Amino acid sequence: MSSIVSPLPKVYEQASDFMPLLGTDYLEFYVSNSKQAAHFYKSAMGFQAYAYSGLETGNREMESYVVVQDKIRFIFTSPLKSGTDVGRHIEKHGDGVKVTALWVPDATKAYNEAMSRGARSYMEPVKEEDDKGYVVRSGIYTYGEVVHIFVERDNYNGHFLPGFQKWETPNYNPDPVGLKFVDHMVGNVELGNMDKMVKFYQEVMGFAQILSFDDKDISTDYTALMSKVMSNGNGRIKFPINEPAEGKKKSQVDEYLEFYEGEGVQHVAMATDNIIETVTSLRDRGVEFLNIPTTYYDQLEARVGKIDEDIEPLKELGILVDRDEEGYLLQIFTKTVQARPTMFFEIIQRKGATSFGKGNFKALFEAIEREQELRGTL
Ligand code: FE2
Repeated sequence: MSSIVSPLPKVYEQASDFMPLLGTDYLEFYVSNSKQAAHFYKSAMGFQAYAYSGLETGNREMESYVVVQDKIRFIFTSPLKSGTDVGRHIEKHGDGVKVTALWVPDATKAYNEAMSRGARSYMEPVKEEDDKGYVVRSGIYTYGEVVHIFVERDNYNGHFLPGFQKWETPNYNPDPVGLKFVDHMVGNVELGNMDKMVKFYQEVMGFAQILSFDDKDISTDYTALMSKVMSNGNGRIKFPINEPAEGKKKSQVDEYLEFYEGEGVQHVAMATDNIIETVTSLRDRGVEFLNIPTTYYDQLEARVGKIDEDIEPLKELGILVDRDEEGYLLQIFTKTVQARPTMFFEIIQRKGATSFGKGNFKALFEAIEREQELRGTL
């Protein structure tokens, strides 16, 4: 993957890719109105119409719209009647990520490897086929009600998955904004569960812990949290896990856990090759980003050294910069994107850096706290 410098830092060698994981196949969101959600991701975020499943394809339970942008595929699913598991999930959590699907060469082997190492089953291997071949999918639980589905698609030449048809929207196809692939996906877990999830990713999935932040790294005057970053061996799948730490006021992780009513996906980071163009385009289309005080930029060059970009557009857009031993990165965070103050997106451009922007945590968390203050949840 282009964002990962070669060779990877030594710590990645602690991972063992017995599944192995080739990349993120798709993310599935359970939402209350899949049709309108898909429209938002097209109009505001540059995704393209891709696939559909619903009444017209013989699915009488739920309706799903799939959108795509380069290697990123999102599915938005809503129930077509009451009493479904999707409906119960939305009633409890609001809109959110249910599935992180991982592309594997053999979904039965990946499932058996995970189960023999202590995973909790979500879905035994199922072969789904149509006239274009077959796909095998299996699934296990991770934190909260979030699941990892293993997708084996070597023997499938169809459009997306069996059961889906092409979704075409001839009259409205806004341009992509340059989002390329999912860089990482962060989970929020209850106090005390971070190390359990670290163990899960190490033992069940063969991941390595590549980074760790404690409440001294991640704290402001009011709030604190702890985080550990798990990665598979090729560095394509990275899952940071956050848990709240004691602070003077309620942390952003506490707010999430309260409003999501449990553990779940906090943010999905999507990579771009040109963050200034991507963010300009997203902002023009109405995507809202966290506001960063202009004083952040006063010390920027002293902190991160020379960078290729002009400071002015970064300041104008509120893009943050951080440097590590390998290089630097640029990043920005949206406001939460559904009714509940739960999930948001990060846009990231890596210029060598393999880390996550530790130097920006303070500015970022103060920006989040200003939003919490407005919501009365700090
Ligand atoms: Fe992130």
